[in-house]
Amino acid sequence: MKILAGLSPMAGFTDMPFRVICTELGVDYTVREMISAAAICFHDKKTFELAEISPLEAPCAIQIFGHDPAQMAYAADYILSNMTSSRKPAAIDINMGCPVRKIVTSGDGSALMRTPDTAQKVTKAVEAVTSKYNVPLWVKIRSGWDKDSLNAPEFAQMLADCGVSRITVHGRTREQMYAPSSDNGIIAKVRKAVPREITVIGNGDINSYEDACRMIKETECDGIAVGRASLGNPWIFKELSLGEKIEVTTEDRINMALRLTSDIVKRKGELQGIRESRGRAAYLIRGIRNSSRVRDELNHAESFEAFKNILLEFSSNCEK
Ligand SMILES: Cc1cc2nc3c(=O)[nH]c(=O)nc-3n(C[C@H](O)[C@H](O)[C@H](O)COP(=O)(O)O)c2cc1C
Repeated sequence: MKILAGLSPMAGFTDMPFRVICTELGVDYTVREMISAAAICFHDKKTFELAEISPLEAPCAIQIFGHDPAQMAYAADYILSNMTSSRKPAAIDINMGCPVRKIVTSGDGSALMRTPDTAQKVTKAVEAVTSKYNVPLWVKIRSGWDKDSLNAPEFAQMLADCGVSRITVHGRTREQMYAPSSDNGIIAKVRKAVPREITVIGNGDINSYEDACRMIKETECDGIAVGRASLGNPWIFKELSLGEKIEVTTEDRINMALRLTSDIVKRKGELQGIRESRGRAAYLIRGIRNSSRVRDELNHAESFEAFKNILLEFSSNCEK
């Protein structure tokens, strides 16, 4: 069974180099990590440049966060009017799921699930912009704020009434952050609560093709989005597109760590690129024998050349 599979946005990880890799491995769509609407309103050039989409990518949505309707509308307009057609985003996605304290104390991210009136105003304001540009509007939500306020189904209905075409539901509350396990039951309730023409994407704890099949069977959602599992295993998208388990060798994983690092360095420069790649390469080699020693070595590498040599040596030692 072919499954509609997306890359869930992850700040610090779902940048262009990683999205291109996921595209090559068969991801159907991606969502770029969240951008602050306020930063866009202040014309923070760097923020905007990082929102760039490559023609080599699968359709990519740009995610924004904020709680001020006018600011959110301005940010959506700025993004859509400043992107040429080759880099036009697949959608604008509003983040109503981020649980991070700094974000929710400003009333952004999952705090919007506690203030549905504000969430509605934000959604309507952004929808007025996206419809002008004929670009779909998506929203990402959680199951609710905490176990006593599991309002995702009613909240999703409100979003559907505002003209949202896709709702991604992470089956955890804000209080739960990222553990314990995600609840498919609430995703099923959202699917039932909104009209069939709204695409409902289930998210949370998809680590394999089997998990994705279970999510679809239990919730009748239209597709799934993979977050953390993709960081060490981007091949999950190949598995999801082929509908079968695929074999990934140690060499594949080390080569992928090298490829990702090289692409990040090309895009962000050697200093920043190496700094960012340390943790990301570590995900890809995790579980290979001696990988924790190699991770420590990578943490001390100061140049791409040094980084590369560590990984090449690791690869040749693995072969022995
Ligand atoms: C490091 C990290 C950064 C994240 N950044 C974002 C983000 O920018 N926007 C968003 O909507 N979700 C963000 N998320 C949440 C993920 O998209 C996803 O919903 C969550 O990890 C659950 O899916 P998973 O169990 O497959 O990881 C982030 C998660 C992690 C671990």
